[in-house]
Amino acid sequence: MSKDRLVSPDAISQEEAIRGWDAAGEEFASRFEKHEEFFHKHMINPAILDLLGPVEGKAVLDVACGEGHFSRKLAELAKGNIRITGIDASETLIGIAKRRNKAFSHCITFQVGDASRMDQVPSKAFDIVICNMALMFIKRYEDAIHEVARVLKPRGIFVFSLLHPCFLTPGSDWIMDDTCGAEKGKKRIGWKTDNYHLRLAARDVMFVCDTQETYYFCRTLEDYVRALRAQGFVLTDLREPLPPKAMMERKPEFQAELKRSLFLIIKSALLEDSSSL
Ligand SMILES: C[S@@+](CC[C@H](N)C(=O)[O-])C[C@H]1O[C@@H](n2cnc3c(N)ncnc32)[C@H](O)[C@@H]1O
Repeated sequence: MSKDRLVSPDAISQEEAIRGWDAAGEEFASRFEKHEEFFHKHMINPAILDLLGPVEGKAVLDVACGEGHFSRKLAELAKGNIRITGIDASETLIGIAKRRNKAFSHCITFQVGDASRMDQVPSKAFDIVICNMALMFIKRYEDAIHEVARVLKPRGIFVFSLLHPCFLTPGSDWIMDDTCGAEKGKKRIGWKTDNYHLRLAARDVMFVCDTQETYYFCRTLEDYVRALRAQGFVLTDLREPLPPKAMMERKPEFQAELKRSLFLIIKSALLEDSSSL
């Protein structure tokens, strides 16, 4: 995460952050058009599905659903025996989601909405809420978690994935072996983190080849756990997925992923009374 792209989160409004996603929407959605995007396919989504368990017959809210690939995946897994609402603040992405997922209109509905103020979503209506790779792009994340607690049924499950807050920090980067000559042949000998507690916002592209930048809000792990606890959630499980073993054996460059964790996936449950825990 490049340091010259860092700003104070106070300098960015939630509306500005959302506008960034409207501008980046087409480019982001193109990553899922023909195939599932690489990291989602091989690392993030398998870990989320593992944490969710069986989803047939459930009512699911996909918060910040993007172009809807995870809703689509759940609908396929449940063979249509599922009721999914996908919500996203970007009109661009919801427009694409509606067009792209017409075949699932019997079990998925998509709507534009801000995760931190989901007025159109009824209370205590969902068994499961997921938020896939989005909470760190939402400035008012505590309000969003409050809303998730409101719309979940008691004992409902909230699973969300993040760029790992302990490793993807302002100024984090690979440590390269400078003794091995040409740039191309340089080995990744470590991963350094920096400024973990600074809570800065980073303007950056989502994937290296992208052109459109969005704001990513760096927070500590404690920030997320505290926000969950404040709304009555208890953390029940988590995953820090690696690329699949076969892929790491076949492609030695993936071995460097053993030095860090790119993603964190947290499962939490809403308890009626968690105050004594
Ligand atoms: C990295 S994308 C993830 C999209 C999708 N969940 C996925 O895994 O492909 C982040 C998403 O968060 C959405 N987003 C950002 N701020 C939001 C907010 N305040 N409320 C709802 N969605 C928001 C963006 O529009 C974008 O679709």
